[in-house]
Amino acid sequence: MNIAILGFGTVGTGVYKIINNTDRQATNLNVKKILIRENHKINLPEMTNDIDEILDDIEIDVVVEVIGGIEPAHRYILAALRHKKHVITANKAVIARYMDEFSRVATENNVKFYFESSVGGGIPWIQGLERALRIDSIDTITGIFNGTSNYILDQMDKTGREFNDVLHNAQELGYAEADPSDDIDGIDVANKLCISADIAYDRLVLPDDHRLPIFGIRNINRTDIEYFNQQNLTVKLLGKSFCDGKQFDYAVEPSLCKASAIEASVPDNYNVISLHGGTIGMLKFMGQGAGQLPTANAVIQDILDIYQGKEHLQRAFKSSLKFNPNLNRRHYL
Ligand code: HSE
Repeated sequence: MNIAILGFGTVGTGVYKIINNTDRQATNLNVKKILIRENHKINLPEMTNDIDEILDDIEIDVVVEVIGGIEPAHRYILAALRHKKHVITANKAVIARYMDEFSRVATENNVKFYFESSVGGGIPWIQGLERALRIDSIDTITGIFNGTSNYILDQMDKTGREFNDVLHNAQELGYAEADPSDDIDGIDVANKLCISADIAYDRLVLPDDHRLPIFGIRNINRTDIEYFNQQNLTVKLLGKSFCDGKQFDYAVEPSLCKASAIEASVPDNYNVISLHGGTIGMLKFMGQGAGQLPTANAVIQDILDIYQGKEHLQRAFKSSLKFNPNLNRRHYL
């Protein structure tokens, strides 16, 4: 399969590295073109500044969009789908706003639009959610969705260092967004929560919706953390959503977890995301939620799914087997 990578930052470079360094299944993959910014130096033969060179290349089967942000990512994804190329993206901001449009245009052009890497980095979360939905209604999605803020809170707790110092490290490690305020102010969590809940509840809620309260971790300091520790509590930035089939609720907020809760001991850049379904009960998915190689790994899993003809959930499939045994909100922490 011939692939074009749009954007050559942390994740794009990771995709290129894994494809070119692995001798297993991924060797059937070839990175043919890489789109870079106009002012960026061309230092690999695959690089170009011209999107049309990619769109008009009939040998390119898959476009991987890892530019981030809304535009031009939105425009390029639509153009690639309309040029009958499968699209894979890790860009949660653009999916949270345009998932429906992308899915519709992909179907109209008989190509795939997959986005496993957009939520939970290397965790097979979207796949797990889609599998659960084949049988169950999902009434709860909660969890730690942002690796940067988890790393910051964990390091402040373990090392006694201050917020800004640790944020700088998270940026150096490639966990943080280009604008790290998205990570620390809860915006990145809101994007990922909306993508997950839209799929789970079949309702589109935009991250900018006023019904979604969003609070980040900017104001949490060492004194707060020490005080919580004395109470045997740990603070984590959580995304939470509930749906009873008629009503739904979303929030992004720093939350206190009991020391015995799994969330309390999630370290470094890890995420843990939970769903609750009628027959499956509670499932928790844990792994590195941010970072170059785990995220690139999830991108390549999507490419391999297309290569091997593995279908992801079709939205229309969802209504057939719904079971909702309990309309109460659940709290698991
Ligand atoms: N900045 C994001 C995070 C990257 O820290 O979780 C993965 O989406």
